[in-house]
Amino acid sequence: MTETAAVGEGEVLGVTIGEELIALYRIEDTFYATSNVCTHAFALLSDGYLEDDCIECPLHQALFHVPTGEARSRIAKRLLKTFAVKVENDRLLVEVPTTVEV
Ligand code: FES
Repeated sequence: MTETAAVGEGEVLGVTIGEELIALYRIEDTFYATSNVCTHAFALLSDGYLEDDCIECPLHQALFHVPTGEARSRIAKRLLKTFAVKVENDRLLVEVPTTVEV
């Protein structure tokens, strides 16, 4: 469980939900969630730099638009996965798809 206070304004926090590595962001008091793994190679975006509404990968500086996951540099071309976030009673709820064995 992650409380809203755990993510400061203009900050990014890495969390694990099930098997998903997720990056949580707070941008102008709105919360966002994306995959925490860069689409170029393996690097955690929560170790990167959040500037305005874009996160820069710490490894080769790929840039992603946090609200849409759009890749905004030539290094990484693939979209970053995004997840819906809700706030309930100061807690962050992230909608992560699950796979169920049938
Ligand atoms: S691993 Fe992120 S830009 Fe290369």
